Amino acid sequence: MDKILVTGGLGFIGSHTVVELQEAGYEVVIIDDLSNSSEKVLDGITVITGKTPIFEKIDLKEKEAVEAFFKKHNDVKGVIHFAASKAVGESVTKPLLYYENNIGTLVYLLKELKKLPEASFIFSSSCTVYGQADELPITESAPVKQAESPYGNTKQIGEEVIRDTCKVVPSLKAIALRYFNPVGAHESAEIGELPIGVPQNLVPFITQTAIGIREQLSVFGDDYPTPDGTCIRDYIHVVDLAKAHVVALERLLQNKNKESYETFNLGTGKGSSVLEVVHAFERVSGEKLNYKIVGRREGDIISAYADTNKANDELGWKTELSLDDAMLSAWKWEQKVRGKE
Ligand code: UD1
Repeated sequence: MDKILVTGGLGFIGSHTVVELQEAGYEVVIIDDLSNSSEKVLDGITVITGKTPIFEKIDLKEKEAVEAFFKKHNDVKGVIHFAASKAVGESVTKPLLYYENNIGTLVYLLKELKKLPEASFIFSSSCTVYGQADELPITESAPVKQAESPYGNTKQIGEEVIRDTCKVVPSLKAIALRYFNPVGAHESAEIGELPIGVPQNLVPFITQTAIGIREQLSVFGDDYPTPDGTCIRDYIHVVDLAKAHVVALERLLQNKNKESYETFNLGTGKGSSVLEVVHAFERVSGEKLNYKIVGRREGDIISAYADTNKANDELGWKTELSLDDAMLSAWKWEQKVRGKE
C-alpha cells in the first residue's frame, strides 16, 4: 500500500486522519514537532488500529531536516499537511511566527514534493477564508474575503502558494480542504482534542466546564440576527472530517481530479447556534451546563455553514455523524482524559 506522510499527525484532526488512513490500509509516516501535541497520541492510534505509524519528530522549519526526511522516505506518494499554528489571537500578536510556521514550512514541503516523480498533496484550509459570506450556505465559489487575522491570512496565502505551484509543476496535484468547525473525538475515546491552556473553541470549553475545570461557559452574544440570537456555525464530527481526507487523497492518487488544484468545503451543511450546541451537550451527557450570556467576542462572524454539494457530488463523501454524536464523543473523551470515566 502507498506510503503517506501526515504532517502534524499527532494533532487533533491529524491523529483522527492517521487512524482512517491506517484502517484503509495505507502505510503512514507522521512528522510532528510536538509543539502542540504529545507522543502519547501514538498509543491511542495503536490501540484503535492495531498498528503503530512511523513517527519522526521534526520541526518543518528546519529545512535540512525536511530534505533529509525525503531522502529517507523517497517513496512517499501523498502528503496530508496539517502541521500549522492555529491560535487566532496569538497570530495577531505574533504575525511573523505564524507566517514562518505556516507559510515557510509549506514552501519547504512543496520544494521537496517537486523533486518526486509524482505527488498528491492535501492542505488543511479553513472556512475562515470566506469571512462573513454574503450568501448562505457557502459554496466554494464564494469570494475569499480580506482575512481577519494573520492565522486566517496564512490559510489564504497557503492556498495561493499551492495553486500557483500546481500550475507549473505537472507532477504535483493538490486539494485544499476548507474545514468548517471540527468537533468531537474518536468513539473509542482513545484520541481526541487536547487544547493547551484555556480553550478558545466552544466545544472543549463546554466539556471542560462540565467536568469542573472551568467555572462557567461564556456565551458570546445573544443579540445577533439569528433565531435565538447566538452565532451559527457548521460543527462537523472530526471522524467524518478525517474520512474526507482519505477520500480526497484517493481522488488524487487515482487521477480522478478534474484540475491539478481543487478546493472543497468540509461541513455538514447544517448550521447550529451556540445555544443549540449547549443543549445538545446537555441532552447527550445528562449534565446541566453552567453558562452565562456575555457580550460579543470581537471578530466573530454571525453565521457560517457549508454548501456541501461539491464535496458530496465530486468527492462522493458526506457526513454520517450528528452533532449529538460529536458532543457525546467529546464528553466521553473529556471524562477519559480527566480519569473520570
Ligand atoms: C475559530 C477561529 C477560526 C478557526 C476555528 C477552528 C476565531 C475568530 N476563529 O472559529 O479561525 O478556523 O475556530 O475551529 O477564533 N463561543 C462562545 N463561548 C466560548 C467559545 C466560543 O460563545 O467560550 C462561540 C463563538 O462566539 C462562536 C462559536 O461559539 O459563535 C464557535 O466558536 P469557536 O469554537 O471559537 O469557532 P469559530 O469562532 O467559528
